[in-house]
This record gives sequence, structure tokens and C-alpha cells, in this order.
Amino acid sequence: MSSTPTSSPTSSNGKPASAAGRYLFLFLLGLVIGSVAVVMILRAVEGRKTWQDHYPDAAMHLMQAHMAQLGASAAANRCSATDTIPHLQALRTIANDIEPALPDLRDDARFVSHAGELRATLDAALSAPPIDCPGVANASKKIGEACKACHQDYRG
Ligand code: HEC
Repeated sequence: MSSTPTSSPTSSNGKPASAAGRYLFLFLLGLVIGSVAVVMILRAVEGRKTWQDHYPDAAMHLMQAHMAQLGASAAANRCSATDTIPHLQALRTIANDIEPALPDLRDDARFVSHAGELRATLDAALSAPPIDCPGVANASKKIGEACKACHQDYRG
């Protein structure tokens, strides 16, 4: 009989103590998880910031953009030298970035020869620039083939 009233105060004394313990545990757990998350986020942000990470995709997308504009010009029947040469020049300049952008492949002879093939194709197009739309289409086709040749071998 007397055990019932005595057990009630001890359990009510025990409850706040264990609740405080739980809060302390959760607080410490949150602190640990929080600091791990902060370190992970900082690392991810640091990793993303490096220009090397963006270099290959940036160079490829820029070439893609100039190819698209070349195609759009031809589709709109705008095929004069002033419409197309700037794009060919941009492509030729960016083609120099292929090896620096992909340093893991710069010692791969086949990769370098694909890049050289693209540059040679662009040099040929610039030395005898297309003067009409069939000429632009023909140059675009050859350039596109040079892009594709490398992608078939190296684009994962
Ligand atoms: C010498 C090899 C080579 C040549 C030439 C080349 N590429 Fe690429 N390209 C690659 C590789 C390798 C990748 C994959 C890069 C990566 O994911 O890091 C790629 C990826 C791309 C991508 C996808 C980028 C992305 O990750 O979203 C585009 C678009 C692209 N190339 C366009 C072109 C165009 C247009 C040309 C020609 C004017 C061209 N490439 C010529 C090797 C080449």
C-alpha cells in the first residue's frame, strides 16, 4: 500500500531527469550531425568552385552554341562571310582548349589526333570560307563529323 505513493514521487523525480538527459543527447547529436553537414557542404562548395570542373563542359557547350548559331544562320538563309566567319573563328579558338580542358587525356595520342582533326577542319574552313548556304552546310557537316569522331571514342 505504501509502495504506491512512494513509487509515484520517485517516478516523477526520474522523468524530468531522463528528459533532460534525452535533450542533452539530442542536442549533442544535433551538434555532431550539424558540424559534419557543415564540413560536407563546405567541401562540396569548394569542389564546385574550381574552374577546372567547369572547363571541359564550358568549352564543349560554347562550341555547341557556335555550331547551333551556324546552323541557325544557314536555316535563315544568312550565309555571308560576316554571318559565318565569326563562328568559325570562335570554334577554332575554343578548339585550342580541348586538351587543357581535359588534362587526363592530353597524353592520349588518339584523343589529341581527334582534337587536331577538328582544328585542321576549322583551319580549312577558315582558309576558304563558305560564301553560300550549301558551303556553310558542307562546312558544318565536316565540323560536326570531327566532333562526333572524338565523342564516339571518348565521351562517356
Ligand atoms: C578531341 C575530342 C573531342 C572533340 C574534337 C569534341 N569533343 Fe565534345 N566532348 C568530348 C569529351 C571527352 C566530352 C565529355 C566531357 C565531360 O563530360 O567531361 C565531350 C562532351 C561534349 C558535350 C557535352 C558536355 C556536357 O557535359 O554536357 C557537348 C555539347 C560537346 N562535347 C560538343 C562538342 C562539339 C560541338 C564539338 C565540335 C565542334 C566537340 N564537342 C568536339 C570530346 C571532344
